[in-house]
Amino acid sequence: MAPREEEIRALLERAGQSHLLRFWGELGQAQRDALLEELALLDAEELGAHCRRAAEACAREQGPCPERLDGRMEPIPPEFLGSVRRSDRGTLERWEAEGLHQISRNKVGVLLLAGGQGTRLGVPYPKGMYDVGLPSRKTLYQIQAERICRVEQLAGEKFGTRCTVPWYIMTSEFTLGPTEKFFQEHNYFNLEKSNVVMFEQRMLPAVTFDGKVILEEKAKIAMAPDGNGGLYRALRDSKILEDMERRGVQYVHVYCVDNILVKMADPVFIGFCVVKGADCGAKVVEKAYPTEPVGVVCCVDGVYQVVEYSEISLETAQMRNPDGCLRYSAGNICNHFFTLGFLQAVAETFEPQLKLHVAVKKVPFVDEEGKPVKPLKPNGIKLEKFVFDVFRFSKKFVAFEVQREEEFSPLKNANIAEKDTPTTARRSLLSQHCRWALKAGARFVNSRGQRIPEKQSLSEDEEPPAVCEISPLVSYFGEGLEKYLKARDLQSPFLLDECRAEALTKPE
Ligand code: UTP
Repeated sequence: MAPREEEIRALLERAGQSHLLRFWGELGQAQRDALLEELALLDAEELGAHCRRAAEACAREQGPCPERLDGRMEPIPPEFLGSVRRSDRGTLERWEAEGLHQISRNKVGVLLLAGGQGTRLGVPYPKGMYDVGLPSRKTLYQIQAERICRVEQLAGEKFGTRCTVPWYIMTSEFTLGPTEKFFQEHNYFNLEKSNVVMFEQRMLPAVTFDGKVILEEKAKIAMAPDGNGGLYRALRDSKILEDMERRGVQYVHVYCVDNILVKMADPVFIGFCVVKGADCGAKVVEKAYPTEPVGVVCCVDGVYQVVEYSEISLETAQMRNPDGCLRYSAGNICNHFFTLGFLQAVAETFEPQLKLHVAVKKVPFVDEEGKPVKPLKPNGIKLEKFVFDVFRFSKKFVAFEVQREEEFSPLKNANIAEKDTPTTARRSLLSQHCRWALKAGARFVNSRGQRIPEKQSLSEDEEPPAVCEISPLVSYFGEGLEKYLKARDLQSPFLLDECRAEALTKPE
């Protein structure tokens, strides 16, 4: 039943938002009902407070430069910073075995942050459904599903069990419907449907600089997801932590949808965090150069947080250790480890303390005459929470540095940009698979059978010498490829899927 008009009018008046009904007289019954439904979901107190906060936060951000953090920062102490590059093989293998052990005991879950609107990439469907143009034409969702499948297999084989890594997927109003449909159409990529748990984050109204909710259409308010830090509230609202508890999940790997190289439930990272007794961990990559615009994980006044490049001076960004490495080099890649206990504490206690960040955006709206306008410059504010803002609540925080070319290549922008595009994502994955094949003892040849020379290292803007794609169902991270590829001449483009792998193990 549609909520009563008078109640909603009173609610809007209390919140100072009566303008939202200014086209009421022109609306048909169905539109009126839809608008009332939408407005009824808003709480007057909360709405008023939200609009005030948005306007105040915006004024603060546009005011004098925020205070710099330079004098209050310290790098992560070495005992809490693991590193793939600086660890010997035996240590990495021990961490990996620990991670696989936890996976084999069904103690590990993965959680995908997939509620973003992907405005920079600019496609009208969720980013996970994007195909970057690999020979297999796999989408990001499919690659991730297959990595889960393979890591379950690896853990199961090592410890003689059958195990499950449940996949939690946080979506938003924009991404839930199409994501569900896509998974159904692809039979959940052969994962058990009951082990793929989708839930929805909250939406918040977009607001003008002076704190008025924006009408996107005459009968529709402009809403946006509450940022990837909306995770903690969504976990509580959707009872996801109870689901984890029921399944016995103790460790959760949280990651972003757009990193084509993401190692889901990475046993080395999980193992490292478990061995260190951490309740919260962050994977990081070494910052490429001092002014690279990435957040840096460090300690501020004794608590861990991500410091944005804009919050420190150039001198601090350029500081180096005696070994020549940058002093503040732990670049955040939105790839986190949490214990269930930590997530429970955040969801139940700390979530309201998370900072609200202001994103100033171009928000489509209707003008005074009710005509739709696509603004050319930013006209509105969206308030967002960030997933990493919880580090400060950790009792034992660790960071783990991994190699960028092996683990991080995000898809953020359309191909007109230089960085983080479909082209760079495709290249990163194909270059990695080329390296794996060469390491396993393969050689590449062209269509005339001529050997393709190897290249030691490739920059992001170079195509790999040969096109080689290896299905995650065959190899999760380059392991076990010798039996298929050793001493073989592979003709580029080469696709190693399960069928091909099986054929390659049969005598010729
Ligand atoms: P980004 O900050 O890159 O945002 O998200 P985005 O929405 O994907 O892209 P733009 O900024 O509009 O171009 C980093 C990760 O956080 C998720 C995204 O889906 C992505 O995995 N995210 C972002 C959410 O889950 N919810 C949000 O509200 C925002």
